[in-house]
Amino acid sequence: MKKKERNKYKKKNLLLTNSEIFLKKLNPEKDVTNKYKSWLNDKKITQYIEQKFKKHSIKDIKKFVIKKNNSKDEFLFGIFLKVKNIHIGNIKLGPIKWNHKSAEISYFIGENKLHSKNYVSEAIRKILIFAKKIKIKKINEGFYSINKGSERALKKNGFKLEGILKSQLIHKKKGLIQ
Ligand SMILES: CC(C)(COP(=O)(O)OP(=O)(O)OC[C@H]1O[C@@H](n2cnc3c(N)ncnc32)[C@H](O)[C@@H]1OP(=O)(O)O)[C@@H](O)C(=O)NCCC(=O)NCCS
Repeated sequence: MKKKERNKYKKKNLLLTNSEIFLKKLNPEKDVTNKYKSWLNDKKITQYIEQKFKKHSIKDIKKFVIKKNNSKDEFLFGIFLKVKNIHIGNIKLGPIKWNHKSAEISYFIGENKLHSKNYVSEAIRKILIFAKKIKIKKINEGFYSINKGSERALKKNGFKLEGILKSQLIHKKKGLIQ
């Protein structure tokens, strides 16, 4: 994708009709808050994501957001509630392999009380529309087999299980799971 076109998309929010959420480019100064930091340091929230392996500081998160905002092959969005413009989680499209027209996605909602409200399903739906627009043909997401919420949100969006990688991940120091 050409720089000019990429920059155009980098500035845009992704709006969703008939939805309580929208996806917004994160502002490292305004959106990286203590609340955001607490999500990433909450072991219950991060038990199925790679963030669980480190302690997060405001400085690190700002650096991460700036890096992703400048990245050629990643699009990071905050998931925001339309009501009161509240940041509740993130979704990322990327890394994108432009030559193969394929990409990864990852996502989280920062608080347990906001889970199972269809927010990630909606965010994925919007990301799929965006990915199609920028000519990505294939989207992949690897998840812990016990992460039923993630599995369900992907299935609802038409994802198909292509394989199970055995002994791939460690969960709660107990051993390897798929
Ligand atoms: C997994 C996660 C992303 C799901 O997001 P969400 O916004 O709660 O998902 P949705 O509300 O869109 O849920 C989709 C479906 O899964 C169900 N679901 C959600 N969490 C579930 C759980 N823990 N167990 C079983 N089903 C669950 C929902 O009820 C919904 O079912 P429905 O379609 O029958 O209504 C969210 O729980 C989360 O952020 N977890 C922490 C980080 C994480 O695991 N990220 C994903 C890494 S792969």
